[in-house]
Amino acid sequence: MATNEDSLKNIISHAKEYGFVFPSSDIYDGLSATYDYGQLGAQLKNNIKEYWWKSMVQMHENIVGIDAAIFMHPTVWKASGHVDAFNDPLIDNKDSKKRYRADVLVEEHIAKYEAKIQKEVEKGQKRFGDAFDTEQFLKTNPNVLRNQEKIDEINTKLEAALNDSNLDALRQLIIDLEIACPISGSKNWTEVRQFNLMFSTELGSVAGDAAKIYLRPETAQGIFVNFLNVQKTGRMKIPFGIAQIGKAFRNEIVARQFIFRMREFEQMEMQFFVKPGEELQWYKYWQEARLKWHNALGFGENKYRLHDHLKLAHYANAASDIEFDFPMGFKELEGIHSRTDFDLKQHEEFSGKKLRYFDPEANENYIPYVVETSIGLDRMFLATLCASYQNEKLEDGSERVVLKIPMALAPVKVAILPLVKKDGLPEKAMEIFNQLRPFVQTNYDEKDSIGKRYRRNDAIGTPFAITVDHQTLEDNTITLRHRDSMEQERISIKEAIEKVIQKTDIRSLLSC
Ligand code: GAP
Repeated sequence: MATNEDSLKNIISHAKEYGFVFPSSDIYDGLSATYDYGQLGAQLKNNIKEYWWKSMVQMHENIVGIDAAIFMHPTVWKASGHVDAFNDPLIDNKDSKKRYRADVLVEEHIAKYEAKIQKEVEKGQKRFGDAFDTEQFLKTNPNVLRNQEKIDEINTKLEAALNDSNLDALRQLIIDLEIACPISGSKNWTEVRQFNLMFSTELGSVAGDAAKIYLRPETAQGIFVNFLNVQKTGRMKIPFGIAQIGKAFRNEIVARQFIFRMREFEQMEMQFFVKPGEELQWYKYWQEARLKWHNALGFGENKYRLHDHLKLAHYANAASDIEFDFPMGFKELEGIHSRTDFDLKQHEEFSGKKLRYFDPEANENYIPYVVETSIGLDRMFLATLCASYQNEKLEDGSERVVLKIPMALAPVKVAILPLVKKDGLPEKAMEIFNQLRPFVQTNYDEKDSIGKRYRRNDAIGTPFAITVDHQTLEDNTITLRHRDSMEQERISIKEAIEKVIQKTDIRSLLSC
């Protein structure tokens, strides 16, 4: 059986082999935690963006979209708190000279106890089969309870150290747990230091601090600083939202797990401005709306779980993550945060400009409260790949790798395949290709046997294949092959074209 680690590895190599994702600067052996999207990856990414943008902007009369610059005035990041507080606690091993996130070292140590519990559960399942009651076992088995107690104890200390920004306590925890460097195996650690995650660069030719600017670590601030511009020019009435898709940059120290954690990534964020006091009801609304958006893709409701933040950032009065069941376990895919009036208030103070909304109904001015939805496009891409990738055993004993990507998101919607490369079949196939091209992304493929071409299209997630044979020349019928069931139906060219366009239309997701 493939382990979870194997399954992520398979997905990474599949993504490279078929042109979805390449390591960046591949011919120079890549750049860590940086990736390029290939010909199919770029298309899939665009389709995910389209799904998000249309469901946010087109389907909500009170949400508009913007595209703000990556570079922003440096004071923006002072006001937002990123200059002073957007930090990770880092520790170096003196022997290997390797740098680690101190909290992640502790979390990885905790994961070892969790793995022990999992092993006990698997042993129990094997022994008792269907009669095994996992919940009961977790509550009563002495080995499980001992390990859980250890986990709770470490978690309490970790949380306290992080909450108090107590770097000495964090280091002491690493020492007490006897955590060793995975490279050198030694426990020879430096002090823990705070490390700011923002990339900085210099503006123009002027040297010195005044010219230092940052690559934005989140797209949200581009929305906050444009709040009044959009509200006034768009004559927006509260509640209303501003959506944006764009690049963000973070100098992540622990950057790994493929495109899950990158240094350059893309976010799809929406800030929803509401009347103070109404934010928690909108927070609930957006939690439900975003889960519905995910569930419309049909990956299965059990793939998602909502995780409430126990520790809230100082500016939030509620926050949660939508977690997705990635091969490496349930991990954050999207954040939903009730950010109060913190950001607009800070920008008012630092810019000296009023950022208030005049509510004509209440006849009063106020700083709106904000509910944010923030999803990483690259993580959504990875979730889509992971949920779609399947290695199927077929009835004849052979295997096929198929990407069961939701049809509306598939990078190529239909492949046009002449059965043979002669007798006028390529010309007829080209006619169909040209008819479909203006509507959907269509591939024409005449190389290799028809079986190999079907497999190739399964592997890239093409939902339909239209095969043109000699009968097509006589009666204008073709074979329409369905990716998921592999069923084939003989229908007219006209019917096939209509079916492909209708089934792969993004509207099928938007109306869910
Ligand atoms: N404006 C709020 C904000 O940026 P966040 O939880 O730091 O919140 C939001 O990030 C989302 O951005 C995450 O849920 C994740 O999907 C994505 N994200 C964050 N850091 C990332 C990284 N290094 N690589 C890829 N995606 C990332």
